[in-house]
Amino acid sequence: MRYADITGWGKALPPTVLANADLEQLVDTSDDWITARTGIKERRIADGEATEMAEVASRHALAAAGLEADQLDLVVLATCSPESLVPASASYLQARLEAVNAGAMDLNANCSGFVYSYITASALIKAGAANRILVVGVEKLSFITNYLDRNTAILFGDGAGAVILEVTEEPVGLMASELGVDGTTTELLCTPVDGTRGVPGPRDPATSSITLQGQEVFRRAVTMMSESGAAVVSDAGWTIDQVDLLVPHQANRRIIDAVVRRLGLDPSRVFANIHAYGNTSAATVPIALTEALEQGMVAPGNKLVFVAFGGGLTWAAAAVKWGSRIEPINTSDASIPKTDKSLMEVLKPNLDFFRKVDH
Ligand code: ACO
Repeated sequence: MRYADITGWGKALPPTVLANADLEQLVDTSDDWITARTGIKERRIADGEATEMAEVASRHALAAAGLEADQLDLVVLATCSPESLVPASASYLQARLEAVNAGAMDLNANCSGFVYSYITASALIKAGAANRILVVGVEKLSFITNYLDRNTAILFGDGAGAVILEVTEEPVGLMASELGVDGTTTELLCTPVDGTRGVPGPRDPATSSITLQGQEVFRRAVTMMSESGAAVVSDAGWTIDQVDLLVPHQANRRIIDAVVRRLGLDPSRVFANIHAYGNTSAATVPIALTEALEQGMVAPGNKLVFVAFGGGLTWAAAAVKWGSRIEPINTSDASIPKTDKSLMEVLKPNLDFFRKVDH
């Protein structure tokens, strides 16, 4: 039997920090409100391209797996903030990495994109279509976040996380999965017009940022993340007490806490880093997984659950049996270049663009 083991992991966060105190200067909000309602203290803002972050995360994941990029069969890049409509961002990443023997494709399921991609890549390996796949979640949400709109400015940031999947005969990796969507609810979380639905011409700032009906999305996120998480635990033949670590999408600390309560999971068995990065959409789960490994929270043979929810409205859950290795084989010194710009200089194009909207 063929299985797909996670053998490498990595992350990349831009150095520029947008803290709650900075947002207090931009919109009518407060550190206390943001902390109490979301758990977020800071997010990162990219000054370079999204695939620069993806490349750095991927180089760390490749090093951890002890692989070179030319050994990859496929690159799957999960994003809802692609660099262009044509080509897919995965093509830019393939070129940066010189993954000369790989195919490459994007997968967009919004905040569920990484878990969708992980499940898809695992299935391809199990089916014999590939032996080594790089799966990346990367977002430059600062391109589609209006940092003058307090409903969304507080939530979103930029970042990337990556894993390497390799074929093995050991019964590890994806044990059960669920993919879901309710496409009748797209208006609850969307960029109203920022694709081919628009008319040809310059982007309109009024319709090019993420809009969110927060309470409704919150309610659905709690329901679908807890229901799909419970389903994959049961389908894997596990009980909730046997789950060693839940690695959830990081959208709101209160969503994570509510999902843990509904699952009946011991609260010490969840990984959360939302305070540091906010919601980086498809990047949250691989960044969280990488940090959980770095912090010694994953042991050989552990039972993990990935669960995510996002625009679409999509959700996805995976029951994952960890393999035998929790230490990287090699390390990489890849990093996002430091910028000389101040936070406000990095944010200036965003603020200049969205200032044209009537707030
Ligand atoms: N600062 C201060 N006050 C605020 C802010 C702010 N940034 N934002 C809203 N308020 C006010 C509102 O105006 C409202 O005031 P009122 O009572 O006088 O009318 C009050 O605070 C409460 O507002 P709510 O919207 O009810 O606040 P809520 O507790 O629901 O928190 C939030 C809002 C954080 C957006 C939450 O609803 C949420 O996290 N929703 C889910 C987001 C999510 O799950 N996203 C998932 C995927 S994202 C993706 O796919 C890209």
